[in-house]
Amino acid sequence: MSLNEFSSIMVIFGGTGDLTHRKLMPALYNLLFEKNLPENFCIVSVGRRDKTNESYRNEVYESIKNFSRIELDENVWKVLKNKIYYQKFDFHDDNGYTHLKGLLSELDDNYNTNGNRIFYLAVAPEYFELIVEKLNEHGMVENNRSWQRVMIEKPFGKDLNSAKYLNKKITEVFREKNTYRIDHYLGKEMLQNIMVIRFANVFFEPVWNNKYVDNIQISSSETVGIENRGGYYEKAGALRDMVQNHMLQLITLTAMEPPVDLSTESIHDEKVKVLKSLQELTPELVLKNAIRGQYKGYREEEKVKPNSDTETYVALKIYIENFRWAGVPFYIRTGKRLPVKSTEIIVQFKPLPGILFFKENGGLTPNLLVIKIQPEEGVFLQFNAKKPGTSNKIIPVQMDFCQNCQVGSNSPEAYERLIYDALRGDSTLFTRWDEVEYSWKYVDKIAEVWRNEKPNFPNYEAGTWGPIEADKLILKDNFKWWNIGGSNNENL
Ligand code: BG6
Repeated sequence: MSLNEFSSIMVIFGGTGDLTHRKLMPALYNLLFEKNLPENFCIVSVGRRDKTNESYRNEVYESIKNFSRIELDENVWKVLKNKIYYQKFDFHDDNGYTHLKGLLSELDDNYNTNGNRIFYLAVAPEYFELIVEKLNEHGMVENNRSWQRVMIEKPFGKDLNSAKYLNKKITEVFREKNTYRIDHYLGKEMLQNIMVIRFANVFFEPVWNNKYVDNIQISSSETVGIENRGGYYEKAGALRDMVQNHMLQLITLTAMEPPVDLSTESIHDEKVKVLKSLQELTPELVLKNAIRGQYKGYREEEKVKPNSDTETYVALKIYIENFRWAGVPFYIRTGKRLPVKSTEIIVQFKPLPGILFFKENGGLTPNLLVIKIQPEEGVFLQFNAKKPGTSNKIIPVQMDFCQNCQVGSNSPEAYERLIYDALRGDSTLFTRWDEVEYSWKYVDKIAEVWRNEKPNFPNYEAGTWGPIEADKLILKDNFKWWNIGGSNNENL
């Protein structure tokens, strides 16, 4: 398929926001630099602030300079610059949509974009419904001779009911196949690699089950706090901000069965089956297996209540009740103000029978496979070998494959991949409605119990690995958290 089949206009609602400047514009620049944008393409940014095309373009120039993966090249910028337009209006204002429609049809003539559109909603969630409705009222969606797609940032709802409502509103206007719900983790290079590592290697696939795996740990830690997002974060907390989406997506990719083929539907079908197999949570199980934390100092952050009970850390023990995973605990944890910025999946294998080397060495270090998602991308294996020399000592040794350490490899940013796929009409790396639905079902059970139990917050120091209860959660099962940070970590 040639790129020019994807000729279109991308309309970004929230064109002056942080996401547009830090992620979307740099991603569009990188796509253009690498010749992954169709020639017939332009961008209209909609925002509520007063700006001319010229002043807006100058701001975008600075953002690309500051945030782009590939250094800004003036010649490429010149091409992109002339494709960027700015429209000011309030999202409630009908006149704004009328003008937008006029501008888009003018640009269709200039750029040969045939009425094809991507509407990117980079706005606060309270505007999702409004904008979609207005686009519909103004006849900007579902023109039979062309396509219109909508890309929606998270959070998709704040619980199951609100997500259902939002989905209903969106699907009244856009068909499911034209709805691209973003979970930017799915755009990360190593998430796409999980299926390949699992299903393209004979070392891994046969042992990827409850016969050989003792437990799986999925950690995503951040060193930053909530920065200037207090208003949003107070209502979300780590459970809605990270677990409902990114963490459960990591679980589905780690645990899913091989799909029958690589089509979008087949892959989504398998992912949903994992979510459907999550152990039914009772209040007792939540109290036992769900740990929350808040870092000291959170309550003093801007727009945070002085007695806030919002969690900035979550650790969970999860069971997937299907044939492959029955009995294998999945421990997940995520938090702000932890010691390192890192996301990893650690598969700990079961010990071999306790004879031979075990006897002499008094137990061996478990075999580990670590899929390193970020900041390093790669795979790390730990296994046992004889210590060189005359003693019979056995020591753990490590093999480390670092994908982004290789010369010349420069993984695209998640948003590059996601925009590229939406342009091509491939929604594999986006979340299908039933994935969102089942993840909210699971997370709501935890939220409900937590709403009725007062936590003892704050309960961890910034810069530490979270509350002590998270350590107890795993120690109870005779396991320990493998401290993340990959091969550089002496604790591994
Ligand atoms: C976002 C959350 O979805 O993911 C943020 O809203 C979080 O709170 C971010 O910081 C983490 O993403 P990444 O790509 O930096 O791991």
